[in-house]
Amino acid sequence: METSCFSLSCFSLTLFLSLFTTTVLAGDPDMLQDVCVADLNSSVKVNGFPCKADITANDFYFKGLANAGATNNTMGSVVTGANVEKVPGLNTLGVSLSRIDYAPGGLNPPHTHPRATEMIFVLEGELEVGFITTSNKLFTKNITKGDIFVFPRGLVHFQKNNGVEPAAVIAAFNSQLPGTQSIAVTLFGSTPEVPESVLTKAFQVGTKEVDKIKSRFAPKKN
Ligand SMILES: *[C@@H]1O[C@H](CO)[C@@H](O)[C@H](O)[C@H]1NC(C)=O
Ligand SMILES: *[C@@H]1O[C@H](CO)[C@@H](O)[C@H](O)[C@H]1NC(C)=O
Ligand SMILES: *[C@@H]1O[C@H](CO)[C@@H](O)[C@H](O)[C@H]1NC(C)=O
Repeated sequence: METSCFSLSCFSLTLFLSLFTTTVLAGDPDMLQDVCVADLNSSVKVNGFPCKADITANDFYFKGLANAGATNNTMGSVVTGANVEKVPGLNTLGVSLSRIDYAPGGLNPPHTHPRATEMIFVLEGELEVGFITTSNKLFTKNITKGDIFVFPRGLVHFQKNNGVEPAAVIAAFNSQLPGTQSIAVTLFGSTPEVPESVLTKAFQVGTKEVDKIKSRFAPKKN
């Protein structure tokens, strides 16, 4: 059955579909001015941060990735962000970096970045890295100093230092604030807790196993 597409509603539908497609394919929105340094203290809620009036070169500067972060934690890894929260000049620019340090045996556990593709560049050491597609195919590789690896936007990925020396990477993102959801913490360490019946059925295990994992990821009480 052929239907003509000259009616207003048909035009609206076409417009809606094209806008929707554009939104789905886009990263951070395009900027509309040279700079819009984030006013991180503003109470105004917008997509990103409002621009502040008085800006200096230091709004575009950060020294925080110069040194290795402390990896003496349970996972043996630490992510140091250089995103809009640390570098307010990044607001509306659609890029950011992180430095990730790994102790020998350290793991950056499976996680996703909902708003960005990630590229890592190995500064030192060796890492086993991988990502998993939505059809559950694992793409994995051992990489070493000077190598680059890409984790496509939104896909679950990890990095593991199987070596006996520390490792470090610089990670680049096409978002000023990529966001991170770490799978284990998201499901077993949320506040309030995800109902036990959801986790036992989802993971096909008993309450004992769920409680055991929850105990490892429970939010720290101060
Ligand atoms: C936000 O406000 C606090 C104190 O109210 C101040 O110390 C800090 O420098 C401010 N930050 C920015 C980015 O303006
Ligand atoms: C990690 O090491 C630093 C200094 O070496 C120390 O101050 C800190 O308490 C340690 N953290 C943990 C969780 O052990
Ligand atoms: C990476 O190296 C480890 C040994 O350190 C090996 O077990 C693993 O299969 C390797 N992975 C890939 C994807 O080649």
